[in-house]
Amino acid sequence: MSKRIIVALPGDGIGKIVLEQAVRVLDAAGFEADYIYGDIGWEFWKREGNPLPARTLELVRKYKITLFGAITSKPNEEAKAELDPSLHEKGYTYSSPIVGLRQYFNLDICVRPCKSYKGNPLNFIRRGKGNTIDEPQVDVVIFRQNTECLYSGVEWTNPPEIVYKALLTHPRFRENFGKVPAEEISVSARIFTRRATMRILEAAFEHAAEYDYKSVTLCEKPNVVRETSGLMWKLAKEIQKRSYSGIKLLNTNIDAQMMWLTKNPEEYGVIVAGNMFGDIVSDAFAGLIGGLGFACSAQFSSDGIAVFEPTHGSAPKYADFEVPIVNPVAMIESACMMLDFIGEKETCRRIRKAIALVIEEGRVRTYDMLRLQGRPEVLMNGAASTIQMTDAIIEKLNNNM
Ligand code: NAI
Ligand code: MG
Repeated sequence: MSKRIIVALPGDGIGKIVLEQAVRVLDAAGFEADYIYGDIGWEFWKREGNPLPARTLELVRKYKITLFGAITSKPNEEAKAELDPSLHEKGYTYSSPIVGLRQYFNLDICVRPCKSYKGNPLNFIRRGKGNTIDEPQVDVVIFRQNTECLYSGVEWTNPPEIVYKALLTHPRFRENFGKVPAEEISVSARIFTRRATMRILEAAFEHAAEYDYKSVTLCEKPNVVRETSGLMWKLAKEIQKRSYSGIKLLNTNIDAQMMWLTKNPEEYGVIVAGNMFGDIVSDAFAGLIGGLGFACSAQFSSDGIAVFEPTHGSAPKYADFEVPIVNPVAMIESACMMLDFIGEKETCRRIRKAIALVIEEGRVRTYDMLRLQGRPEVLMNGAASTIQMTDAIIEKLNNNM
């Protein structure tokens, strides 16, 4: 069989560190691939005035499957100041390349699994009956619509007259804001389309069916945000009725969900939400299973383009340590999601098992798992380095062929 080609976009800071470790693990697991490294991030902004060069877009388009580390983003003024002097007057404006990638390829489905590893000292615990301590097993997969909602960028401060007039045609606007001058109004549009909403819901149900989750929970606020959340709830009911009658459909409001998730996180399976509530609820669940060192994600388009990345950013504070200390698990888990997607299920299973064994054994733990402050000294206080953590995972892989 010919080798697979994977696009590798390390990006900035710790993105470079963790991506390299993920590739080591993939190699050790016997996954045969060639990695084509692409340019993305701060270095290319400074040098070329574009953090997401066209040649990178072309690579992603051509090879479809991408592993991404993380990038650094800064506010526009700071970004401009760091441009190469020869580019200063050329009118470049900075925008986040990962957001750019999402938009360019319409990566509208974002999947964020949050599954607790047995023995992870960062797992959520709660007080049980009497004075016992419970450690609920969390196994939740969040499906977040990734391109619409409040993040679509359709917004104004001091909206143009035509927009202001259009808003005035809505009775609620007239009643509550009709006397406020336009220049004192900021509006961010929450747009849901039927097609994208269907896609994220279908993906959520399909996942629940394939991996045997008992329920899909829509986490929105349809009782208040009637049009957008309401559309999603209506479509969710239709899809469930039409094709997934064996899967329970639950409806929780985002606010209540944030409270319930520390009461009974084990009762949720697949959760589906629009962009903003999906962002919120996925970070919250990630907190229950160990936080950024463990939070992985995947993003898909309708035409087979897939980008796999840890949820964390480039953590510049930790990028230049002589011996890197960050946790590589989120990136390695993201690589597992890639294997799963391309059908390398057995390799994926073996890597996850190796991670689970290392965590359960508890001998090798990165600084975050020991709740230490991220400083170089952590290595003298019992924390494993990024490489030692990866080595431990590879050792388990080799012992469990
Ligand atoms: P961050 O995720 O980079 O780091 C926040 C903190 O989380 C770190 O200081 C560290 O304590 C911890 N952390 C992150 N990854 C870790 C790991 N693998 N192991 C152990 N601990 C870890 O977020 P921050 O500091 O807000 O942003 C830094 C830069 O990253 C910014 O420029 C931001 O714009 C960018 N960013 C990029 C993202 C992406 O590429 N998708 C996502 C989030 C932020
Ligand atoms: Mg977030």
